[in-house]
Parts: sequence; structure tokens; C-alpha cells
Amino acid sequence: RRLDNALSIGDLRTIARRTTPRSVFDYVDGAAEDEISARRNVRAYEELIFHPQALRPVDHPDTSVRLFGRTIPLPLGFGATGYTRMMHHHGEAAVARVAQHFGIPYGLSTVGTTTVEDVRAAAPEVDLWFQLYVTSDPQINDDLIKRAHNAGCTTLVLTCDTAVSGNRRKDDRNGLTIPPTLRPSTIIDMGLHPYWWVNKLTTDQITFASLAGAASTYNFNQIASKIFDPSVGLDSLGWVRERWPGRLLVKGILSTKSAREAVDGGADGVIISNHGGRQLDRTPAPITLVPAVRKELGPDVPILVDSGIRNGQDIVAARALGADAALVGRAYLYGIMAGGQDGVVRAYEILAAEYQRAMQLLGVRHSGDLSDQHVTLPGARPG
Ligand code: FNR
Repeated sequence: RRLDNALSIGDLRTIARRTTPRSVFDYVDGAAEDEISARRNVRAYEELIFHPQALRPVDHPDTSVRLFGRTIPLPLGFGATGYTRMMHHHGEAAVARVAQHFGIPYGLSTVGTTTVEDVRAAAPEVDLWFQLYVTSDPQINDDLIKRAHNAGCTTLVLTCDTAVSGNRRKDDRNGLTIPPTLRPSTIIDMGLHPYWWVNKLTTDQITFASLAGAASTYNFNQIASKIFDPSVGLDSLGWVRERWPGRLLVKGILSTKSAREAVDGGADGVIISNHGGRQLDRTPAPITLVPAVRKELGPDVPILVDSGIRNGQDIVAARALGADAALVGRAYLYGIMAGGQDGVVRAYEILAAEYQRAMQLLGVRHSGDLSDQHVTLPGARPG
């Protein structure tokens, strides 16, 4: 099988590029403005230094961790990404099923293309999170929160780095719309990626979890201006906190000050993230902020990190530097573009094998033992 030849997330990306229309691939792969944050995210992981402990044989590393009262096999979750049925017709339901199979959490996006009820039906046991974009319409917000709760979501993720949509020039150049509009270039693309198009045209129309019943074709900026609300602030966090009885995480934290404010404002934990470089460009690489945010919030507040994770070693590093767990976006999206649900499985398998091997080579028996003795930021000394 083609997927078995994929030995890395980069290999899945290469296959994804071949199998998926360019506008869709670019939407996933691309980032905001000059894509400096996106490159910096990946480079920050490349620049980390791993310090193996000699003479510590590890036959069977225990990669599992406790996260939010559950034992999960790897400190990893599938983060929230929009429009997954555009990447592959298997869509959000497939990602949720894979997360369920491996026992890791999955976050459904407000701009998902499968309703939270349908995702729950597809994966009854998955630890389902719901990522909320607070819109300017309180009725919609209220409704989304209630539906997430009724569908048994354990965790609400409030994304706070999207006052407006990031400027992703590739999407403008490619004329990306949902659903795809028929143009001369579309016809050419159908010849190049027939499998994707046949499935697109034979499966039902894309519907939005959040914009149920809303009108036909949107370009991306129109969707963004419907969803994003520039007035989202600390009072919005308070508003959500009052309505959401479960665990509440604030996503898009990029400083110790914001982390503190989020927790003081009612969050149960934070996700250090620059949205994979898709919002404000030139931000810090989230992984480099983990030690300082951990110091600020102390040992007990859950801290997650995402942006730029392409290898299981990156997840080892996140854990060693003080995060409870890491989230991936593109890593599993490359998988789904490359091969639908099987591609998401392959993405997980690749990350898990890399994680386990890194632990053995570092000489670490339990994920819980990973520390800043094992991984350091450039210039820092092992703890
Ligand atoms: C995202 N991300 C995102 N985040 C969010 O809170 N709501 C959303 O709807 C989306 N949509 C989305 C679509 C696509 C195509 C991508 C790639 C990302 C951001 C996502 O949750 C996460 O922060 C990043 O994907 C992490 O960076 P990596 O792993 O993609 O490098």
C-alpha cells in the first residue's frame, strides 16, 4: 500500500500534495503573510537539543501519560481544524474514529464540516473536545455551547487568536471557496486529482457545524467575517465560563502574561499556540515559551502546546520542557489528504513510533520522567 511507504509525516505531506487539489493542499499547508511563524515553529523544534542518558536500557518504554484524569497512550491529541471534509470526504468523523481507536482526544472545530452530533455518533467513546469561536451573535454562541455539552464534549477550547482571519495569500491566489466553484482551472484540476473530485461530487454537500442552513458558496474571507469577532476579550471568557460547566481551555496563548490572565479569568488550562503560523505572523514559536509559562502557572495547571509538530520527537520535547501534552493539526491533515481514515492512522503510528524510539534512545522509561535534563532549548543548560 502507498501509505506503508510513508515513513514520516513529510512523506504523508508529499502524497497529500499529489492526491489533493492545489487550493486545498495550500489551504492546509500554507500560513499567514510571509509564513515566518510557520517556518519558525518547525525550526524551533529542529534546534532543540536532546541529551541521552548513557547506560539506561529501556526495553519497553511506558509512553502513556495522565491527562485530565484519563490515561492516554501518548501525550498527544488531534487539534481542531476546520473544513476537514474538504481535505478528504471521510472528514471529521474519520479523525474522531482514529482518535477513539488509539484513545487520544479530538477537538472538533466551530468551522468543522460535520456536526458535533454526527461526530459523536461516529465515535461514541472518543474524548471529544469542542473548539469555540465566539461569534458576534450570542444566540449562536449559546447554541454551540449547549450542543457541545449535549454531545458529551468534555472540554471546550476557546480560541482567542482570531480577532480577524490571518492573511493567507495562497488562498486568495487560488480563489479558494467552499464548496469549490467551477472555473477553467477547476476542470484542469479534476483531471489531475480525479479521486478527490469524484468523491467530492458524489458525497453530499458540505455543511457547517455552526452555519447550519447558511447560504451556498462562500469565499474564505466571507466565512471568516461571519465567524470571527474582533471584540472577543476577557469578558467573553467570563461569558463562556458562566455557560460551560466542563473543562475550559484558552487556545492561542503566546506569553506568560496572557497565560496568567486566562487562568485568572476562569480557564482550567491553556494551549500555547500561534495557530500553526496561520494568524499573526512573526510570533514566537510556542515550544520556546513552554518553560516560562510552566514557571508562571506552577506545576498543577494543564499546559498544552501546538504549532510545528511534525515528528514524535517534537512531542517528547514538548513533554520534557513542561507541557502536559501536545496537539497536532497539519500532521493528521496530511494523513487524511494522503489516504483518508487510513492516512490518519498512519500519521498516528508514525508519531507514536518516533516518540517511543526517542524515549529508548534518551534512556527514559516513563513519559512522566521526561524533563529538562533530556531536552533543552538552544543556549539553555540541562536542568
Ligand atoms: C487550523 N487551526 C484551527 N484552530 C482553531 O482553533 N480552529 C480552527 O477552525 C482551526 N482550523 C485550522 C485549519 C487548518 C487547515 C489548520 C492547519 C489549522 C489551528 C490548529 O488548531 C492548530 O493550532 C495548528 O494546526 C497547529 O499547528 P500545526 O500542527 O498545523 O503545525
